[in-house]
Amino acid sequence: MRPNQDHLSRKYLKVLGSQKLSGHIRVSGAKNSSLVLMAAALLSDKTVHLSNVPLLSDVEAMSKLLTSMGVELRRNKNQLEIMSGGLSFFSKDLSCRVFHSLRASFFCIGPLLARFGETKIPLPGGCRIGARPVDEHLQGLRALGAEIEIKNDYVVAKVISPQKRLIGAQIRFNCKSVGATETILMAATLAQGTTILENAAQEPEIQDVAKMMKEMGAKIQGAGTSRIIIEGVDRLNGCSYTVMPDRIEAGTFLIAAAITRSPLTISPVIPEHLETVISKLQECGCLIEYSDEILSIIPSKNLQAVDITTGPFPGFPTDLQAPFMALMTTVKGTSRIEETVFENRMKHLVEFQRMGAKILLEGNTAYVIGSDNLKATSLIGFDLRSCASMVLVSLAANGTSIVRGLEHLDRGYEDFSAKLNAVGANISRNRSVP
Ligand code: UD1
Repeated sequence: MRPNQDHLSRKYLKVLGSQKLSGHIRVSGAKNSSLVLMAAALLSDKTVHLSNVPLLSDVEAMSKLLTSMGVELRRNKNQLEIMSGGLSFFSKDLSCRVFHSLRASFFCIGPLLARFGETKIPLPGGCRIGARPVDEHLQGLRALGAEIEIKNDYVVAKVISPQKRLIGAQIRFNCKSVGATETILMAATLAQGTTILENAAQEPEIQDVAKMMKEMGAKIQGAGTSRIIIEGVDRLNGCSYTVMPDRIEAGTFLIAAAITRSPLTISPVIPEHLETVISKLQECGCLIEYSDEILSIIPSKNLQAVDITTGPFPGFPTDLQAPFMALMTTVKGTSRIEETVFENRMKHLVEFQRMGAKILLEGNTAYVIGSDNLKATSLIGFDLRSCASMVLVSLAANGTSIVRGLEHLDRGYEDFSAKLNAVGANISRNRSVP
């Protein structure tokens, strides 16, 4: 069933299908890295200068949130200066809607507790793709010596040691959580003593934040593996840091090439971040080569169905499950797509079915029977990645489709339609529902 649409904005994209693409697309800085790097900047009272920060509504929301906590921010296109000298341990505007709209708002809890020994922060929001609890974050912070209460949707946390300083501990996460690993990693950099994280998530964004914090003076080993060792230091300095390229955006454009059967080059890309995606695209019939930071993709005309199962890195990224399903609706054969990371991340298939795609859903596994006859229609993206997948599937359909839910798309893709138009797509952005 189609979820309720009343809350959607009136903005929409008009996408002309069956257009071939060719040329080069520039990949922006990673959204998920930028958000956690902005939070990590709070660990120091000195200036952190970030480059390659994408212009996204999520980054804007995070900026507002930091400002509400006394942080000074200076933005110049993709450069962002963060000055946390005047940071306070809680926001002046705790009712602030941005806290609730943004999952990444919760990243602030680790740095705030580490710097001030206390904080009060609303429970987070973000894409509605599952329950998305924060128990692993809280359990980790408790292990570092914080006393935590949840009162009316707020987390109230206090460090109990007399010096109000977190204390290093050995923490084993019950599940691989990107956010929990980042929260505890940030908090532990200023703790007293050594923290060992076991069963840590290994996503590249975790490596990115660890790399930046090391530039700030943190002592971290093993980020990118499941065991991370952090030796707490007394204070961190400022630094200048360049956000890594967005692997999910790059993967989305690789799929755009495949779904339109068009050759594209994409850069900058760190190929190791996309190994599973590249190998699945190769398996279905795309020729992919890379040199330095440039990926080139040439899809064959007769792409074949392949199966995917999402999983924590280095598994197939859950954030590319919807875009990959869009591709599978257009290839020969039946593919099995299993979502194992989030329990409610299959809503997009209802929209694909509206275009004529044949998809059966059993629990969290979709069986997609490909076809070359998708018909343009009016589509809705109900979360960030599903909205991108609606644009992708529209590129392949016969006729002109309408895509709504742009408030989600704008959260995570910088100039999405402009980048696709520059390589031959025909997408126009409009302001009120047709
Ligand atoms: C991050 C990314 C998101 C991506 C996801 C998985 C950001 C801002 N978002 O989200 O784009 O889809 O990683 O790659 O970086 N879990 C718990 N308890 C917790 C935390 C998580 O049970 O305390 C569960 C979640 O419900 C989910 C799984 O762990 O089923 C993975 O979630 P997690 O890795 O934490 O995702 P996020 O950090 O929210």
